[in-house]
Amino acid sequence: MNAESQSLYKKIVENVRDPIFILDAQRQIMFANNAARLQFGLQLEGQSFVRIIRNPACLEAIDEVLYGAESRSLQITVENQYRTVYDVTIVSLDGGDGGKQVMVGLSDISHIHEAEQMRSDFVANVSHELRSPLTSLNGFIETLQGPAKGDLEASERFLALMAGEAQRMVRLISDLLSLSKVEANQRIRPEGVVNLVPVLQRLLKMLAGLAEKERKTVELEVPDEPVKVLGSEDELTQVFQNLVENAMKYGRPDSTVRLKVELSDNEPGIRGKAVSVTVIDQGEGIAREHIPRLTERFYRVDTHRSRDKGGTGLGLAIVKHIVGRHRGRLRIDSEPGVGSRFRVVLPATDASR
Ligand SMILES: Nc1ncnc2c1ncn2[C@@H]1O[C@H](COP(=O)(O)OP(=O)(O)OP(=O)(O)O)[C@@H](O)[C@H]1O
Ligand SMILES: [Mg+2]
Repeated sequence: MNAESQSLYKKIVENVRDPIFILDAQRQIMFANNAARLQFGLQLEGQSFVRIIRNPACLEAIDEVLYGAESRSLQITVENQYRTVYDVTIVSLDGGDGGKQVMVGLSDISHIHEAEQMRSDFVANVSHELRSPLTSLNGFIETLQGPAKGDLEASERFLALMAGEAQRMVRLISDLLSLSKVEANQRIRPEGVVNLVPVLQRLLKMLAGLAEKERKTVELEVPDEPVKVLGSEDELTQVFQNLVENAMKYGRPDSTVRLKVELSDNEPGIRGKAVSVTVIDQGEGIAREHIPRLTERFYRVDTHRSRDKGGTGLGLAIVKHIVGRHRGRLRIDSEPGVGSRFRVVLPATDASR
């Protein structure tokens, strides 16, 4: 290879995004590219590769290539400050008169691993959530076919319970579908003009039955000017419906759920005028450690309680995605024993539009 093409190859290798090492027959580093130095330290040449990656399977694969194999590839997990999963490629190089050499390339595939983990957790969660109502349904069917056969009173009672379980499954499926729909459209900003106050008024009318059942008084505070945002009326209704339902479900009986609509000029993270809707409940509140996890799918502080109330644990995940799609922010504050505030901040649009 002439000097010109050598410097060209060197430049290419230096600028590859993944760490690349060239090792000699004693596994000492003869060369490390920029990415390797950035991840593993500036002074790498001359060091033993074992000091960088201690993984026995990886060292064994390097030895196999040093002793004659053409190449090896494997996945390893390195636990340093973080947990990193690498796809490792080891290739034999013709070292010329310098003896045997190998190239070791490391490709960080942690994000793919994480996504796979999330997907399998998700499937496990969905299966679990579907299995519990199905198990109950099966139990009721067996009872109706066996011990309760012909017992009209028992049939009525069991059928009502079965209807409840079937409704749970319908809710779960429809929540999953809304979540995947919002996720698929995450990058497309909805463009309808939504006049928020009438939307909230309609919603509260719709939820009057629940308010009565949960023994809550509802108060809506609105500014004098019209409050308009760019968005999808259906989706925003879904956001406030979940927040108000939560406040009603998790608030103390005979307490008040307040909705406060405000206009403001300087909201962090929002350019220009902003609209905020805060849903405030008087309830047991949420301990601090749960707050960052509330918007995860299926996350509930108290699983039994949420299930008793017919919840799927997907409500706040849907809220987070819809608010994100509207370029808004969701803030959650809570004081255990006092209550919680869920605040949605959205960019306001010109009222004259
Ligand atoms: N206002 C609130 N006060 C106390 N805890 C709350 C409140 N809102 C939500 N939570 C907690 O957060 C969890 C997740 O809420 P989310 O709305 O995602 O699910 P859910 O209400 O259980 O089910 P779904 O919304 O599908 O009916 C709830 O199970 C509850 O533990
Ligand atoms: Mg909810």
